[in-house]
Amino acid sequence: MAVKLKSEDELRVMREAGKIVGQTLARIREMIRPGLNVLEIEEFVKDEFKRVGVTSPFLHYSPAPKYPPYPSNICISVNDQLVHGIPRSRVLKEGDLVSLDLGATHKGYVGDAAITVGVGNISPEAQRLMKVTEDALEAGIKVARTGRHLNDIRGAIEDTIRPSGFSIVRGYGGHGVGRDMHEEPHIENVRQRFRGMPLRHGLVLALEPMVNIGGPDVEEGSDGWTVSTKDGSLCCHFEHTIAIREGREAEILTLP
Ligand code: MF3
Ligand code: CO
Repeated sequence: MAVKLKSEDELRVMREAGKIVGQTLARIREMIRPGLNVLEIEEFVKDEFKRVGVTSPFLHYSPAPKYPPYPSNICISVNDQLVHGIPRSRVLKEGDLVSLDLGATHKGYVGDAAITVGVGNISPEAQRLMKVTEDALEAGIKVARTGRHLNDIRGAIEDTIRPSGFSIVRGYGGHGVGRDMHEEPHIENVRQRFRGMPLRHGLVLALEPMVNIGGPDVEEGSDGWTVSTKDGSLCCHFEHTIAIREGREAEILTLP
């Protein structure tokens, strides 16, 4: 399947979709506190999306027959859970790290973003993990310009994480986004041998570095979705949907 460059009209709609995601994540960030049950977040997203008139591209999503349809509107992954956590009754406690991954389909186009939030006071090591992961996302966005190639993004993310000593998760990564949540290209968070496709005006990408404090290995849980670190170590995930613009810095579509 080929890469789909977006027209100015499509970018306008994707800007709206992204903003709804960014604003909803900002609202969720404010909800996060010790004692909050994560199910309340799923309920909030359900109500909010209904109010705004968008749908979740996650709900009932199944990338391959081996995956049961995803049952919720948002992915909530706590501590050693990296991504694709299904919201279930769980009360957040001081020191937890919560990854909130949210998508919205608006007028047929998808915005996709994720933030990791600390609950109350978190350890200095957890703070460093969050900073490195967010810095990696920012570094990837900075080099996402016309004249560059896909591998420049991968390399910038990798180079930001490496010196930390933390582990870069393999097998999961960013992706093109548009009418479909997952479009070409897939974007691993490490360099490859080839420079990859040239970055062109109208290319819309979701960049999503995933970093573990411990080893790089992750495994899928028995629910068929939740991805956790094998060694039980803390992990972190940040994501933005961005649009490549001719001769300019990429535009972040999923800001509030
Ligand atoms: N937002 C995730 C991504 O970036 C996908 C969520 S998986 C789903 O790829 F099942 F929840 F949809
Ligand atoms: Co994504």
